[in-house]
This record gives sequence, structure tokens and C-alpha cells, in this order.
Amino acid sequence: MLGGEYGPAVAKSIELLVAVGKIFEAERLIPIESAHVSGVSYKNLGDAGLEFLEEQADLGAKVRVKTTLNPAGMDLDRWMDLGVPEDFAVKQMRVIKAFKNIGIEATCTCTPYLIGHVPRFGSQIAWAESSAIAYSNSVIGARTNRESGPTTIASAITGRTPLCGYRLDENRAPQKIVIVNAKLKTPFEYSALGYLVGEKVGSAVPYFKGIFHPDLESLKALGAALATSGGIALYHIEGITPETLKFDDEKLKGLDKIGVDEKDLREASIRLSSEVKDPIICLGCPHCSLKELKHYAKILKDKRLRRRLIAFTSRGVYDQAEKEGCIKDIEHAGGRVFRDTCMVVAPLKEMGWREISTNSFKAAHYASSMGIATYLSAAEHVLREASA
Ligand code: F3S
Repeated sequence: MLGGEYGPAVAKSIELLVAVGKIFEAERLIPIESAHVSGVSYKNLGDAGLEFLEEQADLGAKVRVKTTLNPAGMDLDRWMDLGVPEDFAVKQMRVIKAFKNIGIEATCTCTPYLIGHVPRFGSQIAWAESSAIAYSNSVIGARTNRESGPTTIASAITGRTPLCGYRLDENRAPQKIVIVNAKLKTPFEYSALGYLVGEKVGSAVPYFKGIFHPDLESLKALGAALATSGGIALYHIEGITPETLKFDDEKLKGLDKIGVDEKDLREASIRLSSEVKDPIICLGCPHCSLKELKHYAKILKDKRLRRRLIAFTSRGVYDQAEKEGCIKDIEHAGGRVFRDTCMVVAPLKEMGWREISTNSFKAAHYASSMGIATYLSAAEHVLREASA
């Protein structure tokens, strides 16, 4: 590959991976089974990123493994309804075309594991998108580092990645014990827990005790928040996530312990919330699952919203929700469900958004940093409060 036998795109990609491997003292490159690419919004890529992708496609780059795509900066069909400016939309469509030409599936979601891209336990993958990384490493037990957009594309094109970091057994062991003294019920509470623990442990691997029966939605919220305030790519929950069986009391002995209670969780949401007057309710960070859309539809059935509600999901989940009648119920109440994008990667300022209300600490963190006033609350609470 380095010698150019497989073409210039492969040579460039493997050069990058060899350089990364040297930095992290990887012993060798290994094959991967799948890739998930982030950095899809034109808002983040800009013209330089767009040109890089078009150049790769022109050089004949093609992925060698199943590769999916993170959210783009807009709903690819209904961008006008979302208020996305036309010049942005034109560039965004060029980005998507370049990715498709490389052979990447334009799934445009941060929850590829909800639409059939589910790696095997123990498989080596190259995924970007911090929330998807945390989910695949922790809940599925696949192995990925926190890949960047360029290294993921390079891995997809070569089918290789350096053997280092979370790919190795020794780096997957717990480093801190987190004792949860709170009864967690909603994904909102798991999001608050993740945000707090991320702040406290940085990029260490936390081992949670005291969490019982979390659903998939809670685990995706937990991982997204852990990766936002900290740099956490992997967590373990006693009795829940698959790798905890390897860690008996002997292995956990001597690790630092931190405790989190209900008061800590309440304080975290107050601390991150700002005052809002008429926020747009934004749900779906990470992208909504079918269960979440069904839940929101049930709350809103035969009601009328007093505020604008926008929920974000993938096309795969949207199609299922449409068949089950959830989209109709949400829209009947005055809400909208968009695909392919989210409240962080869409060009919110250019769309005229000033205030949002959300149940996601990840969304609140990034929206606040963009100067958008953000109020945090459980989805059930904001929807009931805003509908009659
Ligand atoms: Fe997904 Fe966008 Fe949140 S990519 S995790 S919905 S910031």
C-alpha cells in the first residue's frame, strides 16, 4: 500500500495510519471490520474539508469495509423546512456526494447501531463520533479508539488501523470506581450522571456500581455525556456491560472511588442550564430511537404544543416510526421530526436559533458553547409542560 501499488488514495491513507501508529508506538497495523465516519457537516468541514473529500473521490478512493456516516448539517431533503441557508445546503450536498463516491453509506446518524450497523463483540473497528464510540466499546464490547474523521476515512479505505489504545486488553481495565447512590429512571438522569462523571474522571475508564436495568436509551445518553465533559471512550457497569465479568474484586482493589447522589445530579442540570423565554424543544442527542419517538408520540397524542418541538433521528428509525404512526402523532401536536442532522452540527446561528430546551447534556454543552441559551430538563417534563 505504501509503495503505491493500490493507488494514490490508499498510499496517502496508509501513510497517515503509519504516522499515527508511530506516535502511539503501535507494534503493527491490524485489519478492521467496520468504520463510522464523523465530521460530515459542512459547518465543521468548511471548503478545505470538502475539497479534501472530493480529491479523495477523484483519486479513486473506495472503502474496503462497511462504513457509515455521522449526521450532516441538515436534513438532506427537508433542509428548507429546517431553515438551512441555500449556499450551505449546496455545499453539504457536495460533501455527501463525495462520501458516497468513496463507497460510504450516507446513513447520517450517530446511532448506526440502531439501524443495523452492529459490530461483533471483540471485533476491531474504527469509529469516530464520541457517543457511538462509547456505545460500541462499552455496551457492545467492540474495540475502537477515539478516531478522528481523517483517520477513520483512512482506515475505511485501507481496512487497517494501528494496534494501540483501547484495542489492547490492558487499556480496557477500569481505572476509577463510581458508586451511584441515586435511583436513575430517565435517559436525562443518565445524561446528568455521565456529564458529572466525565468532569470528575477525565479520560479514565470508569466502573459503575449501583446502576440497575438501564435501557438502551439510557446507555446511549450516558456514553454521550461521559464523552463530552471527559474524554471517555469506554465505561463498564457492574452486572450490565459485557466485559465486567473479567473484573473481580481483586482486579478492582486499590482503585480510587467517587460517589454520585441525586443532589449532585440536580445541581449539574441547574449549573448547565441558562434562563430561556421561548426555547425550541430539541430532542434526539444522540439520535432518537424508535422507543423514544413512541414515548414522545404517546405524551403528545391529541395535545397541542405551545412551543416549537424538533426531534432528530436517523432515516432508518424515522421510517419505522412513520409506519407505527408516531410521526403523525408528533406532527399533529405541532412538532417536527427531522433526519440526517442534529442541534449541534446544523448551522443553528444561521438558522436564527437563539434558545433551546433539551434533555441532553451533550447538546446543552455544545449549544451553550455556540452562544445558544440552553435549558436542561427531562423530555417528559418539557413535553408535558409545553402541551395541553
Ligand atoms: Fe449525535 Fe449530534 Fe448529539 S451527532 S450525539 S445528536 S451532537
